Amino acid sequence: MTAITAAPSSDWPEDALRLNAICPYYTMFPLDFPLQQLAASPGTSRVLDPFCGRGTTLYAARLAGLPSVGIDINPVAAAIAQAKLIQVTPGAVVRLARQILDGGMRGEVPEGEFWQWCFEHETLRELVTLREALLEMTTPTAAMLRAVMLGILHGPRNKNLPSYLSNQMPRTYASKPAYAVKFWTKRDMEPARVPALEVIERRAKRLLDAAPLAHSGKVYLGDSVKTLGGLRQKFDLVVTSPPYYGMRTYVADQWLRSWFLGGPPEVPYGTYGQIARQPNQEAFIQALGEVWAAVARCCRQGARLAIRFGALPSARTDPEQMLLASVKASKAGWAVKEVRQAGTPTKRNRQAEQFGKAGSAIDEIDLVAELTGLPR
Ligand SMILES: C[S@@+](CC[C@H](N)C(=O)[O-])C[C@H]1O[C@@H](n2cnc3c(N)ncnc32)[C@H](O)[C@@H]1O
Repeated sequence: MTAITAAPSSDWPEDALRLNAICPYYTMFPLDFPLQQLAASPGTSRVLDPFCGRGTTLYAARLAGLPSVGIDINPVAAAIAQAKLIQVTPGAVVRLARQILDGGMRGEVPEGEFWQWCFEHETLRELVTLREALLEMTTPTAAMLRAVMLGILHGPRNKNLPSYLSNQMPRTYASKPAYAVKFWTKRDMEPARVPALEVIERRAKRLLDAAPLAHSGKVYLGDSVKTLGGLRQKFDLVVTSPPYYGMRTYVADQWLRSWFLGGPPEVPYGTYGQIARQPNQEAFIQALGEVWAAVARCCRQGARLAIRFGALPSARTDPEQMLLASVKASKAGWAVKEVRQAGTPTKRNRQAEQFGKAGSAIDEIDLVAELTGLPR
């Protein structure tokens, strides 16, 4: 049994944590949640997150020097999470971007008012060229460039050197086209020319210059239960956070990033495969229970399962009861050791508030369970 070092994030130099912030995602827990769980499980040899989102758990495992596996059904999440496991130099990322752009224009520029207002003409052509080329590439450098692109795709316009390719927009979610066009036209806010390569270069250096050593691991794009069924590895620590009950529009909110990954140039309103699309609470509890059962089958006896969960106030439900019911429904041998408030995180750290539309504060809870019985 090797002891692992999982110091709190405040003990790490700021630049070692930058890669974790490569791209915002609608919900993410603070790095300290998985780091605390790692510190509480000194014998851990492999870490799992079956709802990995942007890969915070995987980054914590990287800091602790451990291999990890993440699963997510959202291509945007999987693409960001993948970057958390990759070791490349900023130079390699920039060289690849330059090589693609030097190869000349390719791909079809999407048409319509939104696109004309969101990106300056030349910037859009570069963006489309990079998108088209990256759709066919699977190397680690390409995966890192893809995640860098997702992070610089949209965000606020700054006074100094630009950090984002788009016209004024939030960075956490993409505005809907009609709203965005109205916003820009009303203010006469024409998009500025932003040379993609320059932004990529600045961002890659910032993120990767001091990134910690990567360890083996993999991110799977798919449904957790189905994917877990095909995994051979055994895990001793699982740190995760399923979608909060009541959240529905997260796929649509990432529509511009979804487009960059090969999706249509419009807002997709489907919620394919998302566990939160269940018709009612009972079905949601049941679906979560199936995940905890599938997780148990991939874990060693004594494994620790740590779950952060919450529900939107509008869902009018008790997240603690829901989560406990789902663990019970799994009938998988998880013995609940602890349930407590997730503390009082700052507004920035609250998953539901990062989502931006949660309204009043919601209760978030942390549940810790241990695999004691034999899984079914
Ligand atoms: C609360 S977020 C996880 C955030 C993560 N802790 C982070 O720090 O980024 C929940 C994730 O579960 C994913 N998800 C929903 N249904 C899923 C399913 N059936 N299989 C795998 N992932 C799923 C969503 O796409 C979302 O990324």
